[in-house]
Amino acid sequence: MVATWKLWLSLFSVCSLLCTAVTQLQLEPLNSAVLQGSDARFNAIVQGSWDIMTWNVGGHLVLTVRSPSEIISSENYNATFCSSGQGACVEFTIFNVSRTQAGPVVCSVQGSYIPQIAQLSVQDSGTVSITGGNVTVMKDQQVEFQCVTTGWFPIPSVSWNQNGQAVNSSLYNTTSMAEGDFFNSTSVLKIRAVSNTKVECTVTLPSLKTPQSSSVFMVIEPNYQDEMRKVRAESLNNAPEHQKGQVNLSYVPDNQIKVTPNVLQENGQNNLKTPGVNNTAGESGFMKHRHLTIV
Ligand SMILES: *[C@@H]1O[C@H](CO)[C@@H](O)[C@H](O)[C@H]1NC(C)=O
Ligand SMILES: *[C@@H]1O[C@H](CO)[C@@H](O)[C@H](O)[C@H]1NC(C)=O
Ligand SMILES: *[C@@H]1O[C@H](CO)[C@@H](O)[C@H](O)[C@H]1NC(C)=O
Ligand SMILES: *[C@@H]1O[C@H](CO)[C@@H](O)[C@H](O)[C@H]1NC(C)=O
Ligand SMILES: *[C@@H]1O[C@H](CO)[C@@H](O)[C@H](O)[C@H]1NC(C)=O
Ligand SMILES: *[C@@H]1O[C@H](CO)[C@@H](O)[C@H](O)[C@H]1NC(C)=O
Ligand SMILES: *[C@@H]1O[C@H](CO)[C@@H](O)[C@H](O)[C@H]1NC(C)=O
Ligand SMILES: *[C@@H]1O[C@H](CO)[C@@H](O)[C@H](O)[C@H]1NC(C)=O
Repeated sequence: MVATWKLWLSLFSVCSLLCTAVTQLQLEPLNSAVLQGSDARFNAIVQGSWDIMTWNVGGHLVLTVRSPSEIISSENYNATFCSSGQGACVEFTIFNVSRTQAGPVVCSVQGSYIPQIAQLSVQDSGTVSITGGNVTVMKDQQVEFQCVTTGWFPIPSVSWNQNGQAVNSSLYNTTSMAEGDFFNSTSVLKIRAVSNTKVECTVTLPSLKTPQSSSVFMVIEPNYQDEMRKVRAESLNNAPEHQKGQVNLSYVPDNQIKVTPNVLQENGQNNLKTPGVNNTAGESGFMKHRHLTIV
């Protein structure tokens, strides 16, 4: 009695091994992220003899394959037979994917096959732009850049580069807001101006082969104090003896004139000269500021 039971049990386990082995259905990939408007493809590999395969997208039966070669498809869906060493292979394609098709993609084969489910995610890439364009700043100044992305789905990943080098993420913050079926994001980067730099904001999604980016240039305007020092150094070297009595080179007025980059750009080289004061800086490139050091 016990022996018979054991025999049945071993027969059953052998069968379950063999039977699942010959009625196996495999689906790949099990996760697919594609851009809206592009095509999504899934491969089904069937072992064992089979007759009917169906594909469901968004809860609807969209395509039927009847072995060995008949394909009954609806618009925007099709399938082809592919080659696989392991069994029959069917490549299922969704053309011009839309967001409404996101979710489970179910492949079933009539018989004792377990239906296989893949997840389709449909993404959208929008626009990216660093607001404000190129900037001219003082050395050591704290500078803020804002990168705005609109019309993305899902929330994209935003990162920053400085001269092609990734910026440490502790230097920026990104916030996102839903706008209908899409997301807008704003990323704020705070850095100290050290040298002339190309600043780039890069936005990407898993489905995007080439990330999108926007870049601006940060140009350092020589710092006022630095210029003063250079001018003084040049004057000491170049000034004839008799001029030294007239010019106190170490004097710096308490209420320094604030020279903003815009003033410099708009006024040009010599407009900042104080009337009635002689320029003693010679041919120095910093001539335009020379008057500021004179008593
Ligand atoms: C579907 O694919 C088959 C096989 O590649 C092809 O012959 C047929 O024209 C395609 N049908 C559509 C509607 O694209
Ligand atoms: C793709 O689908 C959209 C609607 O989802 C439609 O407006 C567009 O014309 C389709 N494009 C092609 C190439 O069929
Ligand atoms: C920013 O600077 C770069 C390099 O000087 C220049 O090619 C580009 O046109 C500038 N962009 C704007 C918006 O002025
Ligand atoms: C980024 O900055 C943080 C804080 O300043 C620091 O702890 C971390 O090591 C930095 N990471 C990299 C990769 O430099
Ligand atoms: C990012 O946000 C956190 C929390 O609001 C704040 O502490 C941090 O200083 C911010 N960093 C930047 C670079 O703005
Ligand atoms: C998203 O960006 C668009 C385009 O700039 C703008 O019109 C809209 O108001 C933004 N929405 C939110 C919620 O920020
Ligand atoms: C130059 O100015 C500095 C700072 O005001 C002052 O200490 C110094 O005595 C002045 N030197 C001369 C030669 O006037
Ligand atoms: C400027 O220098 C010139 C000659 O170098 C001299 O004739 C003139 O008087 C000086 N002006 C002032 C305001 O010192």
